[in-house]
Amino acid sequence: MKKYGLLATFVCAPVLFACSDNTSLSSPNTENEQAVASTSDSSADAAKHTDAGIASGVDYHSFANPNEIRVTHLSLDLTANFESKQLVGEVTLDVERTKPENNTLVLDTRALEIQRVSVEGESVPFEMGETDPDLGTPLTITLPSAANSVTVAYSTSPEASGVQWLTPAQTAGKKHPFLFTQAQAVHARSFIPLQDSPQVRVTYDATIKTPESLLAVMSASNDPTTERDGEYEFNMPQPIPSYLIALAIGDLEFKAMGERTGVYAEPALLESAAKEFEDTEAMLEVTEETYGPYQWDRYDLLILPPSFPFGGMENPRLSFITPTVIAGDKSLVSLIAHELAHSWSGNTVTNATWRDLWLNEGFTTYLTYRIMEMIYGHDRFKKEAVLGYQDLENDVAALEENDEILAIDLRGRNPDDVFSNIPYEKGALFLREIEHKIGRENFDAFLMQYFKDFAFKSITTDTFIAYLDDTLLKQYPDQLDANRIHTWIFEPGIPEGAPHPESDAFTKIDDTRSAWLSGDVKAADIETAQWTVHEWLYFLNNMPESLSEAQLAELDSAFSLTSTKNNEIAHSWLMIAVQNNYQPAYDRLYSYLVSIGRNKLVKPLYRELSKTPEGKAFAKRAFEEAKPGYHPLTVKANEGFVN
Ligand code: BES
Ligand code: ZN
Repeated sequence: MKKYGLLATFVCAPVLFACSDNTSLSSPNTENEQAVASTSDSSADAAKHTDAGIASGVDYHSFANPNEIRVTHLSLDLTANFESKQLVGEVTLDVERTKPENNTLVLDTRALEIQRVSVEGESVPFEMGETDPDLGTPLTITLPSAANSVTVAYSTSPEASGVQWLTPAQTAGKKHPFLFTQAQAVHARSFIPLQDSPQVRVTYDATIKTPESLLAVMSASNDPTTERDGEYEFNMPQPIPSYLIALAIGDLEFKAMGERTGVYAEPALLESAAKEFEDTEAMLEVTEETYGPYQWDRYDLLILPPSFPFGGMENPRLSFITPTVIAGDKSLVSLIAHELAHSWSGNTVTNATWRDLWLNEGFTTYLTYRIMEMIYGHDRFKKEAVLGYQDLENDVAALEENDEILAIDLRGRNPDDVFSNIPYEKGALFLREIEHKIGRENFDAFLMQYFKDFAFKSITTDTFIAYLDDTLLKQYPDQLDANRIHTWIFEPGIPEGAPHPESDAFTKIDDTRSAWLSGDVKAADIETAQWTVHEWLYFLNNMPESLSEAQLAELDSAFSLTSTKNNEIAHSWLMIAVQNNYQPAYDRLYSYLVSIGRNKLVKPLYRELSKTPEGKAFAKRAFEEAKPGYHPLTVKANEGFVN
């Protein structure tokens, strides 16, 4: 019996799966357990149930059956049709059976039109199952026995949830259209029929046809010197989970930043992006020194149009990056450290299910802080850690207890709807505590070994716990204990006694804010010349909820906050403006909402606006104007606030 109590109370074999309370999802992937990497203590990866009946390692967000027959390689041949907003072509999937008689292949799809399924040119039978609004539609193919590859001819829907088609007007250059995909968490299936589960790793190659003047790039080998001729070849030789398959097409140019790093962007942004992110090569080097070799050959960035719904996405070899972090002063480059860090935590060692997302995001957030400290020093690190901790505190105050648990129960839920700081900041704080308890050098050595031991594997929370059990808990029995680890992973909130980041620089900001609030100091007399973005965010984010019109006007006139060019400072200021109905900022608020699609920046504003009838009417006007330019995910995340 394991030490961690409830977690291992009983083991339920896949055939007995009916014993779990398998919520609304019609037919989740119930037999993935063997697919997941195991430690020396392999029992950790059996279909283990917690008291809540969740089976560890079961992907509740895929219909696929990789434990019967598993896709190992994809060969894509697609044409981007910008008139019809469709990707049209075919994918050939190589498969491996776990038993020779397993001839039924189940793939995930969403809103795909399947034209034909064939094996060596001969059509084979297939069937589309019932559609689930969150998961899409299973595609069941009956393969001839012994067939080890199958070709699906298909086209995507113009509304595909994982693809955004932009008109020239929605780009920086205004002349050419643009396309990008965003597969995480469950959207690869909207542009490729595949086994869309993070525990299925595939290699891939692709031929992508585009209008002649445009360049295609993918999460694969990209040749910066390739001729622009409308046909591009790619190869990804390392096995990756489906959520890391990515494509973008546009008027893109490349500029090298270092030996292994460079940036792709529209011409108008290329120079400023390369300057802003010039420390990427140094980040890559310090991360390798600390956590082991970079496994992916090149590391390039792709700067997307402002409708990109995330800050960044760690697509291997080519992180996708929002342009909203090009601030001119490198103040927001922790985003780059974050996406780069995913090359270790996430892309090399991958979460096996979306319940285990904290293994990707918590480890990555921890690594991000470490990289930022190595490149920009201790003071900046401390400020960023305090800001991250405050984000966590705010979420803990706002979320339901179940959503504050690292190993979150996502059964019957769409992972898109459960996005929060918990897997990020709580996960990172947990690792920080271990670091403090056993010492930094020892923890670094542990992480380096962890990335090595699980390289190119997808693992569950339980595998990680068993690994800790085998390693650190044995090595440091006086410093660590299993109950504490269980609390961090399975209990809500921030455990008592957790590390509490502090920054001297911010203590001064607290004093300044208090002095201004009490009327002892005029805003115009505050010495802000040395403030970085972090001071501004801390100053603004910790204002009392209600400020007078006169106070707001005083801040605005002293610091020109309404016209700040920094998108994060603008966000904090606009939140204050909405909370206090400060009308002079509303023109900026409107243009902010219609020009930026990054959900983290716009969603809190829509939520806040929706709290009053006038606010909601304003939000509705902005949303309606912005909607044609928003990504499908941003539309979905915000439409509830305006309707
Ligand atoms: N992989 C995530 C984005 C993601 C997570 C997409 C879950 C879909 C589902 C990416 O690495 C990320 O964390 N982006 C953050 C960056 C920030 C924490 C620095 C973002 O976009 O805000
Ligand atoms: Zn991330």
